[in-house]
Amino acid sequence: MDLTTIESDEIGTVAGQPAARATAARKVFIKTYGCQMNVYDSQRMTDALTADGYTATDAIGEADLVLLNTCHIREKAAEKVYSELGRIRDMKAERASAGREMLIGVAGCVAQAEGAEIIRRSPAVDLVIGPQTYHRLPNVLARVRGGEKIVETDYAIEDKFEHLPQPKRAEVIKRGVTAFLTVQEGCDKFCTFCVVPYTRGSEVSRPVAQIVAEAERLAEAGVREVTLLGQNVNAWHGEGEKGQEWGLGRLLFRLSEIPGLARLRYTTSHPRDMGDELIAAHRDLPSLMPYLHLPVQSGSDRILKTMNRRHTAKDYLALLDRIRAVRPDIALSGDFIVGFPGETGADFEATMELVRQVTYASAFSFKYSPRPGTPGADMADQVPETVKDERLQRLQALLLKQQQDFGLSLVGSTIDTLIEKPGRQAGQKVGRSPWLQPVIVDEKAGEIGDIIKVRITKTGYNSLFAELA
Ligand code: 5AD
Ligand code: SF4
Repeated sequence: MDLTTIESDEIGTVAGQPAARATAARKVFIKTYGCQMNVYDSQRMTDALTADGYTATDAIGEADLVLLNTCHIREKAAEKVYSELGRIRDMKAERASAGREMLIGVAGCVAQAEGAEIIRRSPAVDLVIGPQTYHRLPNVLARVRGGEKIVETDYAIEDKFEHLPQPKRAEVIKRGVTAFLTVQEGCDKFCTFCVVPYTRGSEVSRPVAQIVAEAERLAEAGVREVTLLGQNVNAWHGEGEKGQEWGLGRLLFRLSEIPGLARLRYTTSHPRDMGDELIAAHRDLPSLMPYLHLPVQSGSDRILKTMNRRHTAKDYLALLDRIRAVRPDIALSGDFIVGFPGETGADFEATMELVRQVTYASAFSFKYSPRPGTPGADMADQVPETVKDERLQRLQALLLKQQQDFGLSLVGSTIDTLIEKPGRQAGQKVGRSPWLQPVIVDEKAGEIGDIIKVRITKTGYNSLFAELA
C-alpha cells in the first residue's frame, strides 16, 4: 500500500459536524477507523447522505443512522467492530423503546471482507456496504427503510466517484485548509501479509478531468494543501488533456497550476512505482512538499522476497539515493513490519541496519498480524508474540530517536508553515511544516490558510515551537 494508518485502529474519528438545521431531518453519525482513505470516504459518504436529506451529527445518541467505516489491515479489527456493534445495538434498543429508529450500517474494509457474516453475528445491523459501492448508499438506505437488510459488497462496474456528489463549498470550508483527494484505489501488488488487494480490489485510477475538477473545487473553497491518496498512489496513470499517457508526476504538475493550491503531497507509494517522471517532479515542483512516505517493510532480502515485495534492500537504498540527489532536503517516512513468518534475529538486525542507513523523519512500525485469506497467514515459522514485542520495542526506540533528532535539527532554522487551526491552548495557532510536523505559533502570527515563515525555537514530543521569522 501502504496508506499509513495515522489514526490508529483504536481511535475512531468522527466525520461530520453538528447539524445546523433544527428540522426533523434524519441525522447520520459516522465513525471512521484506519487510514486516510477511510477519512476521505467518510467525507464522501457524508456528502452523499447530505444530498439525500441527512444532516451529520457528532452525537451518536441522536443519530437515525450510525455508520462504522471500518479497517481490516491489522489484528482483530473485525473483533473490535463486533464489540462496538454490541454497544450500538443497546442504544438502538433504547431508541426503539422511545419510538425512534436507529439504523446501523457497517462500511469499509471489514464490511468488504466479512459481508453477510456481519449481519449473521450482529443481527441489529441493517446494512453492510463495501468501499466500491458507496455511491449506492442513498438507494440502499431507501430499501433498508422499507424493511430489507442489505449486503452490498460487489466491485461495482460503474465509477463510484462519478456518482458520488461533490461536497458543498460550505462543507469544504468547515473541513479546513488541508484536504485529501483519492486519485487511485486498490492494489495489484499482493504483498503476502496484506489484505488490501482483497478488500479494496484491483488498481483503479481516477481520470484526470475528475481529479482536476475536484482539486479546483477544493482550492476555490480555500484549501491550500492537497494530499493525493491511493493504496499505490504512484501507480496512478491516466490519459492527459491532449490524449497522452500521464503518470503521477505529470498529474502533480497539472495540479500545481491551480490557483491557491500551494502545497501538494501524495501517499502511499510503492518503491517499484517511483518512476523518473515522479522523481523529476520532486526536483522541479516547489509546491510538491519535500516529504515522502515510502514503505520498505523489512531490511532483509530474504523476508522481502517471502513478503513478495519484489525489491531488495539495495534497490530501495539506490532509489533513495536518486531521489535525494534531486531533492537533498527530502525527509523520509516508512512503514515496517516485525515478526513476519520466518524472520530470524539476523533478518531483524538487517531491518535495524537499514533504518540506521536511511534515517527516517517519521515512521510507522507494526507487529506482523496474520490476516485470514492472505498467504502469510498460512506460512510456517510464525514468530512468537514475545519475540515480536521485543523487536518492535527496539525498532520503535530507534525510529523515535531519529524522529526527535530530525525535529532538533530544525531548531534555529526558518521554515514555511501553513496555519491550519486554533491551538489547544489559548493564544496559539497550529501550523503544519513541510514535513507534516505540527508547528505551534502565536495566534497573531497569521490567519488560518496563510503560509508564513517561522523560526523554530524548540521541539515538543511530536511538534515544533516557532516564532514569526
Ligand atoms: N500485519 C502488520 N502490519 C501490516 N501492514 C499491512 N498489513 C499488515 C499485517 N498483516 C502494515 C504495512 C503497511 C501498513 C499500512 O500497515 O506496514 O505498509
Ligand atoms: Fe501496499 Fe503491498 Fe498491501 Fe498493496 S499489497 S496495499 S503494495 S502493502
